[in-house]
Amino acid sequence: MRDISDALCGVSIDLPENGTGDTLSSTLLQFQILSLQGAGFDTTSRTIMFIILYLITFPDVQERAQKEIDHELGSSRNISGNDQAKLPYVMATVLEVLRKTAIVPFAIPHLTLHDAKLRGYDIDKDTVVFFNLHSVAHKESYWGCPENFRPKRLLDDSGNLLEKCSHLAFGAGRRQCPGETIAKMKIFIVIATLLQRCSFQKADGSDLDFDPTRGLVLSFKVIVKRNL
Ligand code: HEM
Repeated sequence: MRDISDALCGVSIDLPENGTGDTLSSTLLQFQILSLQGAGFDTTSRTIMFIILYLITFPDVQERAQKEIDHELGSSRNISGNDQAKLPYVMATVLEVLRKTAIVPFAIPHLTLHDAKLRGYDIDKDTVVFFNLHSVAHKESYWGCPENFRPKRLLDDSGNLLEKCSHLAFGAGRRQCPGETIAKMKIFIVIATLLQRCSFQKADGSDLDFDPTRGLVLSFKVIVKRNL
C-alpha cells in the first residue's frame, strides 16, 4: 500500500462494473483517481509557480524568507513538514500567495438540498451554487488593501502566524478540500527547500504576467541561481 490510489484499487478489486454503496466499480475508481490527480496536482503546482512569480516580483520578501531559513535551519539540512512552525515568515508568504491568487476562485459547484433564503434571495432546492472564494480573500473591510501583497499581514507583532490565515482558499464545511493539510505541507517543503538553495530572478526579455488564464497552464521564464 503506497498511497490513496492503492487503497482505492484495493476496495475496487473484483467488483462488478455497476458496484454501488461502499464499493467501487472500475469506472468510479477511474473518476476517483482522476479527481484526486486533477484536484491535487494542478492546484499545488500552480500555487508553487505563483509563489515563484511573487518572490521574483518582491525580492525583499524573497530575501527575508531566505534569511529566516538560514537563521533557523541553516543551508545544509533537509527541510521537513515539521519545520513549518520554525519558519512563520515562509509560511505567511505561502498563505499570502494563496489568498491573493485565489487559484480556485469559485470552489467547486454545490447543490442546495432544500429551498433556502440568503440575504433576501430565495434559492430553490437543487440549484447549483458557488462560493465566491476570491471575494472572501479580497474583502476590503476584513483585509485592508487586499490588492497589496504583504505576507506580514498574516503575522502578529512577535512574528507568529495569525488565526486570520484561514481565509478559505480551501473552501469550508463538509465539502472543504480534503487535501488542505497535505497541500500546505507539500508547498511549504518545496518552496522552503528551493529558497534554502536557490534565488529567483526575472529572465531578460521575459514578462512577469500576473493575469491568470483560467483553465490553461501559465508559463514564464525565470533565472534560478544556486546559492550553495
Ligand atoms: C493549493 C492547493 C489546493 C487548493 C487551493 C485546493 C482548493 C480546493 C477547493 C477550494 C475545493 C472546493 C471546496 C468547496 O467546494 O468547498 C477543493 C476540493 C477538493 N480538493 Fe483541493 N485544493 C488544493 C489541493 C488539493 C490536494 C493536494 C488534494 C488531494 C490530495 C485535493 C483534493 C480535493 C478533492 C478530492 C476535492 C473535492 C472534495 C469534495 O468534492 O467533497 N486538493 N480543493
